[in-house]
Amino acid sequence: MGIYSRHIFPRLCDRAMRRPEMARLRSELLVDVVGEVLEIGFGTGLNLEHYPEHVRRLSAVDPGEGMGRIGRKRIARSTVEVDHRLAVAESLPFEDDRFDCVVSTWTLCSIPDVRRALSEVYRVLKPGGRFLFLEHGLNDDPCVRRWQHRLTPIQRVLADGCRLDLDVEAVVRGQPFREVEVERFLLEGTPRLLGSMYRGVARK
Ligand SMILES: C[S@@+](CC[C@H](N)C(=O)[O-])C[C@H]1O[C@@H](n2cnc3c(N)ncnc32)[C@H](O)[C@@H]1O
Repeated sequence: MGIYSRHIFPRLCDRAMRRPEMARLRSELLVDVVGEVLEIGFGTGLNLEHYPEHVRRLSAVDPGEGMGRIGRKRIARSTVEVDHRLAVAESLPFEDDRFDCVVSTWTLCSIPDVRRALSEVYRVLKPGGRFLFLEHGLNDDPCVRRWQHRLTPIQRVLADGCRLDLDVEAVVRGQPFREVEVERFLLEGTPRLLGSMYRGVARK
């Protein structure tokens, strides 16, 4: 892991992901999170302040050391108790059927083996548990898609592995969830390449 990944990108990412429009979307997604909660790709902990009052404890995984350094400072200032682990979503260090909710925001794009990660999410959810996600991904317009495919190799380098062309709905539907609801919209003030959003809930 180089200096860029460890020191520069986490600060840039933290600043870029703090926009008011994104904060509003975080709060809306997390409003009805209940019970035992796991967040994958916890990053710098920007969701922490958006968990509702009744969530006092959560588990979190993220393999990024630099992200974790900023994240742990945010945990120290928060009233939510966080079991923060340096781990990848493709191999979750938790037993089967443990969580009521698993949360992912702007994370699936950065996971190298997203299908494996989602099968892990499914495994650790209790029957009836929910996977709540807010992600950017592939646009419907063929012209935008073409550019998303073309620019993904550059984006991967600039944004620490993030890809622009993930079909989020397809990968979520690829798991045996009982119900999947997905809403599509564009993120305000963001080019469609990066602002094509998928917000949804999948129930085990
Ligand atoms: C763009 S950041 C988003 C951070 C945070 N979820 C947010 O909403 O601000 C993407 C995050 O995914 C994490 N990540 C990368 N590979 C991962 C993996 N295999 N498993 C879990 N998280 C991963 C990165 O370390 C980074 O913190």
